[in-house]
Amino acid sequence: MPIKKNTIFACSKCGSQTPKWSGRCLNCGAWGTIAEDVSTVNASATGQITKVKFNDQKLIDFQNVAHQKFTRLKTGIDELDNLFGSGIVKGSLSLIGGEPGIGKSTLVLQILKNLEGENSPLLYVSGEESAEQVKLRAERLNYQPKNLKFLSETNVEQISAAIAEIKPILAIIDSIQTIYSAEVIGETGAISQIRACTVKLLQAAKKNNIPVIITGHVTKDGAVAGPKTLEHLVDVVAYLEGDKYHGFRVLRTVKNRFGSTNEIAIFEMTGAGLIEVKNPSQAFLQTVTTNLPGSAISCFCEGTRSFLVEIQALVSPVLFGYPQRKTSGFDSNRLQMLSAVIAKRANLNLNTQDIHLNVVGGFKIKEPALDLAVAAAIISALKNKPLDRQTVIIGEIGLGGEIRQVQNLERRLSEAEKLNFSTAIIPAAKLLKNFKIKIFQIKTLTDLLDKI
Ligand code: TYD
Ligand code: MG
Repeated sequence: MPIKKNTIFACSKCGSQTPKWSGRCLNCGAWGTIAEDVSTVNASATGQITKVKFNDQKLIDFQNVAHQKFTRLKTGIDELDNLFGSGIVKGSLSLIGGEPGIGKSTLVLQILKNLEGENSPLLYVSGEESAEQVKLRAERLNYQPKNLKFLSETNVEQISAAIAEIKPILAIIDSIQTIYSAEVIGETGAISQIRACTVKLLQAAKKNNIPVIITGHVTKDGAVAGPKTLEHLVDVVAYLEGDKYHGFRVLRTVKNRFGSTNEIAIFEMTGAGLIEVKNPSQAFLQTVTTNLPGSAISCFCEGTRSFLVEIQALVSPVLFGYPQRKTSGFDSNRLQMLSAVIAKRANLNLNTQDIHLNVVGGFKIKEPALDLAVAAAIISALKNKPLDRQTVIIGEIGLGGEIRQVQNLERRLSEAEKLNFSTAIIPAAKLLKNFKIKIFQIKTLTDLLDKI
C-alpha cells in the first residue's frame, strides 16, 4: 500500500494537531508551543478504498473465555496496596503523577524498599538523578538496597531491553518526561515522545509480565506535555497531591483497570520519608484545641475512606472594589455560589465582606457534602460566634437554600461517633441505624442559623 508522508503541526501542551504552523495554539491558547510533527498516512485513509478480507482467527467465542485471576504484587504498604486493589497487578503499567517536589521519587523508592524482602531483583531507572543522588535519598529513608539494580538511562528501547533481561519483580521509571524513543521524531518531553515511550513500556510490561510504575510531572493546571495525555494508555493512574508546605500527601486513583477508582491513600512526609496515616481524622483534628469563630468540622468521604476535616472561614469588610472570595483547598466557584445562597436565603449581608476559606491540613476537597460546614464556618465568622467543637456538620446546599441529602451519610456519622463527637447536624433523612450521637436534622439554611 502506498505510504504518503504528511507534515502536521502539534501543540506540545495540549496535543492538538493543525495542518499549518501558528504562533498560538488555537485549541488551548498557549503561545509558542506548536512544532512540526511528522506522521504517515496510508492511502486508504486518504480516500482510496482497497478490499480487505476479514481474518476470523481473531474472533473469540465469548462463552469460552476463561476466568483470569490477576496475580498481584503486595508492597506491604497497606494504604498503597488498598489503593491499587490489594496489590499491584503483574504486567500492569501504572502512572504516579504529581507536581515536582511533591514526593513521587520518595514514594517509589519506599515501594522498592518494602519489596527488598522478596529477594528478587528490582529495577530503578532514573533519567533525572544520578545513582549518588538516589543513594542519598535512600539513606534518608534508611534503605540499604541489596537487590536493587540502578540504571541511569533515557533511551526507552534500552530500558525495555533491560526489563526483559533483568526480569525484575518491579520496574520503576522516574520520570516519563526524561526518556525518549530513538524511533520517533521529536524532542524529549514532547507529547509524541511521551506517548511513544509509554506505549513501549506498556508492551514491555505485558510481554514480560512485570509491573512497571512510571512517574510524571504535572504542573498546577495539570498541563505541560503531561501525564494527562497518557491517562488512556496506562492501566492505573494515581496522582500524588498535597501542599508542599504541609506534611500531608494524598495519593488518589483516577483510573484503575483492576480496582475501584477514586480511592485515596494518605501519607505524611517526614524527615525519613512518607509514613502512612491510618487514622486521618485524628491526625487532622489533633491540632484543634481552642474554640475560634469561623471553624467548622465536617466529614469527608471518598472511595472506601471517610474522615473528619476542619474548615476555617475568615470574613472581613471589603477594603476596596468587589468583595473577594478566596479559597485554599476548596472549589472557588462553589464558594461563590454558596456565599450568594447564604446572602439571599439566610438574609445575611455578605456583599460588603471578603471571604477567605481554608481546608486545614492542605487538603483539596470537591465534595458538595461539605457545603453545610462551609456555610456554618462563614456564618460563624461573620457573627463572630464560635461553633461547638463537638459538632460535626454534614450536608449539601441547593440554590434555594435547602439542605440536600449526601452519599454515605451513615458512614460519616459512624466516623464522627468513633471520635466521640456529641452532636451532628445533617440533612433530613431516614437513618437505618441507631446512633449514640445526638442528631439534628435540618431542612433549610434558616434552620442552620437557629442551631448556630
Ligand atoms: P522528591 O521525592 O524528590 O519529589 P518528586 O520526585 O515528586 O519531585 O522529594 C520531594 C521533597 O520531599 C523534597 O523537597 C525533599 C522532601 N523529603 C522529605 O521531606 N523527607 C524525606 O525523607 C525525603 C526523601 C524527601
Ligand atoms: Mg523525582
